[in-house]
Order: sequence, then structure tokens, then C-alpha cells
Amino acid sequence: MSPPFEHWVAGIRHRTESALDRWLPASATAPARLHEAMRYAALGGGKRMRPLLCHAAGEALGADAQALDAAACALELIHAYSLVHDDLPCMDDDVLRRGRPTCHVEFDEATALLVGDALQTLAFQTLAESAVPSSERRLLMLALLAQASGSRGMAGGQAIDLAAVGTALTLEELEFMHIRKTGALIRAAVLLGAHCGAADDATLAALGHYANRAGLLFQVVDDILDAADSTITLGKTAGKDAARNKPTYVSMLGLARARELAAQLRTQAHAALTACPLQTGRLAALTDYIAERTF
Ligand code: IPE
Ligand code: IPE
Ligand code: MG
Ligand code: MG
Ligand code: MG
Repeated sequence: MSPPFEHWVAGIRHRTESALDRWLPASATAPARLHEAMRYAALGGGKRMRPLLCHAAGEALGADAQALDAAACALELIHAYSLVHDDLPCMDDDVLRRGRPTCHVEFDEATALLVGDALQTLAFQTLAESAVPSSERRLLMLALLAQASGSRGMAGGQAIDLAAVGTALTLEELEFMHIRKTGALIRAAVLLGAHCGAADDATLAALGHYANRAGLLFQVVDDILDAADSTITLGKTAGKDAARNKPTYVSMLGLARARELAAQLRTQAHAALTACPLQTGRLAALTDYIAERTF
């Protein structure tokens, strides 16, 4: 019998934390300050949403747990790097992340820049040296993660986000931005898990369709929480999007319509799952978690 959802989530979080701890260089290893800052940014917090999605997709395909750990860590290292850079004064200029001072506040800006660089390269090293059984599949996964992280994925979305400050985007432009800055890595999480389980093309396409909806849902909810939640609950400064004049679903539609859109995306994500030729119970539960989360 598979464990109840909450136990399963706790288990994946725990094994992700342990795997990150193993892959990250020890704080005492030179250059110690950089390694300490990398560990500060990657360990001890976060929902581990991308590892959860990766494991859920992989488990549905019977993937090897150690291969999934490596893919999950690679995803989380890219994500942690993106947060460190996102918080820098030249980007969102945030002082609070996961209930603690942001990396550049706790350390310094130059260190935070290097933390991002080093977490990113460690992500690719982790995947390259992983237990994914075939080298051909590993190469596909490396390319997928690179595409999702780079200028046509997360980094590109972040560039659009910065250029959009104070401007009025159309809804299509806003969706284009969100799909890249957040959706791309969520999609990669599901697909890397599926690749660990040697998914066929039809399954990858069905899961990709699901992940597109789930990824957009994730950032729409992030926009809603920024406007509607408190700093204490979020562990990051609430109200930052409006304060920095960012175009978001809330600034464009208002809270009530942004919530309606989130409900629609949730329904669409569930519908996409029913088209997947797999046991998708965990992914369905994660979709509800993404929609209902409070931080
Ligand atoms: C926050 O991501 C930044 C976005 C991409 C919206 P998460 O909400 O996944 O942050 P953590 O990892 O749980 O702290
Ligand atoms: C960040 O979006 C997306 C990333 C790629 C990190 P946000 O700027 O809205 O994320 P938060 O709200 O600071 O976590
Ligand atoms: Mg940002
Ligand atoms: Mg931000
Ligand atoms: Mg946000």
C-alpha cells in the first residue's frame, strides 16, 4: 500500500534534503564562505515542489528512486539559484526568503551572485553523474533542464519580468512571461521524472500538457499570495509586486478574477491528467496542493 499523501510529501522532502546535503560541498571545504552560502540557499526550507512533481511523475512510471533523487536535486539547485538571483537588489531587491534573510543580505552581493552560478553548474553535474540508467536518456534530460533554465525558459522569463516593470502587458504577454519564468521549471520537473521512468513519447506529451497548466497555475497562485497573504505566512515580503509595479494576474485582473483563473487552470490540469495513461493520483493531489497552498 502506498503511504497517505502527507506522509509521502514528508518522505520526499526528507530524501531531497538528504540528497542535497550529500551533493553540496561541505561548509568547511574551501572556499568555505561560498560553500556555506550555497548550503544556506539550498538547504533548510522551501516546499520542494519541483522534487515532489518529479518523484510523482517518476513513481507513476516505476522509475528508480535514486535516479529520481538526482533529478529532483538538479531541479531544486536550479530553483534555489533562481531565487538567490531573483532576490538581488538589481532584480526584486528582497530581504526575506523562506523566513530568513536573503542570501545577499546574510552574506553579500558578490557571494550571492557566485552562489547562483555555482548552484546552477552543480545542478548539471548532479544530473550528469546521476544513476539514470541510460546515457542517452541522461543527455536528453540535461538538454531539457538547460532549455527550461535558460533564455527560452526561466532566465528568459525573468528578463521579461524585469523589462515589464511599470508597463502594461496584454494577457497573452503576461502568460508568455509566466510560462517561462516559473512554468518552464515546473514542466521540466514533471518531464525529468517521466524520463527517469523511461516514458514513451505519448506519455511525455500528455504529461507535458498537464505540466503547462500546473506551471502557469503555480505562478498565478504566487501572484495571488503576494497580494492576499501576509509576510509571516509567506516567509517572504508580501505586497512586493504592487510596490515594485510588476504586472501580475492580480494587477491585471484583480484578486477575484485571478482566483477564478486559478480555479480554471486547476480544472484544466486535472483534465489533462485524466488523459495520461498512468496512475496519476499523486500528481492530482499535488495539483490541489498548488492551488490551495497558503505559502
Ligand atoms: C517561488 O517558488 C518562486 C516562484 C517560482 C514562484 P516556490 O514557491 O516554489 O518557493 P519555495 O521553494 O517553496 O521557497
Ligand atoms: C520568481 O517570481 C520566479 C523565479 C524564477 C525565481 P517572483 O519574483 O514572483 O518569485 P518570489 O515571489 O520572489 O518568490
Ligand atoms: Mg521576480
Ligand atoms: Mg521575487
Ligand atoms: Mg512572487
